[in-house]
Amino acid sequence: MENRPLEYDYTIAKMFMLTTIAFGIVGMLIGVILAFQLAFPGLNLILGDGLAEYTNFSRLRPLHTDAVIFGFTLSGVFATWYYVGQRVLKVSMAESKLLMILGKLHFWLYLAVVVAVIVSLFAGVTTSKEYAEFEWPIDVAVVVVWVIFGMSMFGLIGIRREKSLYISVWYYIATFLGIAMLYLFNNMEIPTFLATSPAGESGIGSWYHSVSMYAGTNDALVQWWYGHNAVAFGFTVPIVAMIYYFLPKESGQAIYSYKLSLLSFWGLMFVYLWAGGHHLLYSTVPDWMQTMGSIFSVILILPSWGSAINMLLTMKGEWQQVAASPLIKFMVLGSTFYMFSTLEGPIQAIKSVNAIAHFTDWIVGHVHDGVLGWVGFMIMAALYHMAPRVFKREIYSKSLMAAQFWIQTLGVVLYFTSMWIAGITQGMMWRAHDEFGNLAYSFIDTVTVLHPYYAIRGVGGLLYLVGFLMFAYNIYKTMSSRPVEERELQNASPMGA
Ligand code: HEM
Ligand code: HEM
Repeated sequence: MENRPLEYDYTIAKMFMLTTIAFGIVGMLIGVILAFQLAFPGLNLILGDGLAEYTNFSRLRPLHTDAVIFGFTLSGVFATWYYVGQRVLKVSMAESKLLMILGKLHFWLYLAVVVAVIVSLFAGVTTSKEYAEFEWPIDVAVVVVWVIFGMSMFGLIGIRREKSLYISVWYYIATFLGIAMLYLFNNMEIPTFLATSPAGESGIGSWYHSVSMYAGTNDALVQWWYGHNAVAFGFTVPIVAMIYYFLPKESGQAIYSYKLSLLSFWGLMFVYLWAGGHHLLYSTVPDWMQTMGSIFSVILILPSWGSAINMLLTMKGEWQQVAASPLIKFMVLGSTFYMFSTLEGPIQAIKSVNAIAHFTDWIVGHVHDGVLGWVGFMIMAALYHMAPRVFKREIYSKSLMAAQFWIQTLGVVLYFTSMWIAGITQGMMWRAHDEFGNLAYSFIDTVTVLHPYYAIRGVGGLLYLVGFLMFAYNIYKTMSSRPVEERELQNASPMGA
């Protein structure tokens, strides 16, 4: 081992940090627009006949989900990998020209794919499978980007100095393998130009159009095996990778239990893959599969809470840091929200509860206490930790960070509480009936009742977006301030990295 600290190369990490912020702003802004469109439907048509097609709810919704999942979250995963990877493996990207080339190729191709996604979704070109809307040419490009990411990741692991792989690396590897498998299987599709010509009006037969290789119930099963595990390998596994590195590093505390981290890792890997059936309860999927989805969902509490409790116990004896540091606050509240959504999810997966929850806003509430409180908080915390080290400057304003924390926490709380009330009200009204079995309410009755909750959700979302803009400003000011003299800000760390 060298005595001199390694000079890590953060070029690629910095590039992905910028896209994390840019796509975060775009995705969340669209989320806020969607929220207000649901509260005030007139907003769908505000731009008039010519442009309304591009800005209505149905055109913007997949842009929101794809911008926050494939833009914001994935960029965050890549940015942190290119930072954490070097440090825990004790090797610099700069030591291999090939790795630098692969890293840059990874970034630029990824950016090109995201631009293609934005253009095609705005144009209304979509497979209409949720979270898998891209047509086949983009899917092929996604596979190329993913393979390059894998080469770059395993290339770095291959030339490492640190023999043992820190737990975060396990989680990053699982992210790579998990998404590769899910994406390939769910996006098996047949271009229609092979079968039909000339192209029809709906795009069928044109060079970019395709149909899924699966049909009916099989399609639904593969889609929700994918959809649920996209949550696992996009919103859970890489975010756990981040917290296992950044919380111990920021707090100077060693992980509470390494054994528990391994147990939770294998538990997550095994159990998640069987739980996707909970998206298809009361559908045409065989009953035993639905029951299996429910049972595995309940078991999923164990590995999920295993990681979260491990993180919270890492702060044992050091709770004063939570009060003192806004960055630790983000991570501790992030773990708490993770516990929260992984308790709520299994409850919603119980068949009798799902009968009320399915199709309602309670599900949307569940999604956003997870993504805003856990995924969003953790990615911002990671970037806040990285910024002084990669830009070699102090964070511009800790008080701005603290204010942001409280504004966003209020935003998340408004978002999920309003959606809980809206969802459960909706579910109960849909099933209410009189003594003759007639439905007690028409659909529009529920829409009227939901209006105030939709408006509150819009305000909550707006607060979260304002907080995100404060975050972007803080990072921008950090980047553009005067550099700190020391080469690296060193901290006590896991594995000494
Ligand atoms: C123990 C872990 C979890 C379980 C068992 C679980 C269970 C569920 C259930 C039952 C649904 C509703 C399905 C329906 O009726 O439509 C759902 C939806 C969803 N959950 Fe979870 N959840 C868990 C954790 C999480 C976490 C941590 C996140 C995000 C960070 C998340 C994101 C989502 C998303 C995005 C959907 C909506 C999918 C859609 O319909 O488009 N879940 N989850
Ligand atoms: C300012 C913050 C945000 C606001 C205001 C917002 C708002 C919305 C709205 C209004 C919907 C449509 C709900 C419906 O169809 O009824 C939605 C869906 C969704 N959003 Fe967000 N969002 C925000 C941030 C995020 C972030 C950061 C993520 C992920 C990292 C995310 C992931 C999703 C997902 C997965 C869905 C689909 C949920 C489902 O099908 O059940 N959102 N969001």
